[in-house]
Amino acid sequence: MISAKSIAARVESLAQEISDHFKGTDKLIVVGLLRGSFVFIADIVRELDLPVEVDFLETSSYGDDMESSREVRILKDIRGEIEARDVLVVEDIVDTGHTLNHVIHLLQSRNPKRLEVCALLDKPSRREVDIKAKWVGFEIPDEFVVGYGIDYAQLNRNLDHIGKVRFL
Ligand code: IMP
Ligand code: MG
Repeated sequence: MISAKSIAARVESLAQEISDHFKGTDKLIVVGLLRGSFVFIADIVRELDLPVEVDFLETSSYGDDMESSREVRILKDIRGEIEARDVLVVEDIVDTGHTLNHVIHLLQSRNPKRLEVCALLDKPSRREVDIKAKWVGFEIPDEFVVGYGIDYAQLNRNLDHIGKVRFL
């Protein structure tokens, strides 16, 4: 669906916009949502022209299922303090929006100075809660995708491109 080359080009332009947005910050805390964002966050932080701290947060996932659980639990919280800090949440895919909604409310309650979201992929047609990432790499149709960090039952995270899963 999306080649490694297109992803790289898009990551570069997203990083440029993010760097411009947070220009002058003393530090940007980049919070990656595990595990799906690990490749994306690794690529994007290396393109950011800002002082960056990297932290991770893990929510309960789909398991090996393809349906959103809608009930989001925090499995691993971030390590650092974000009060009065600039924070960028990095997510792989915004689907129903429940995960991001939960994470944003949690982090917002800790009073960051600025809190924005960058998602590699967005499936707007699947949305159940009204939430939007400030920066989106690619809008995609309602397909189940893998690669570039994103899995199906834990496999295919290591593909360098995004592919759709074909169910036979
Ligand atoms: P949401 O809470 O429904 O928005 O789900 C978001 C999470 O579901 C993402 O962080 C992904 O981990 C996972 N997800 C959603 N769509 C896909 C997909 O097409 N392939 C793999 N994982 C997905
Ligand atoms: Mg995820």
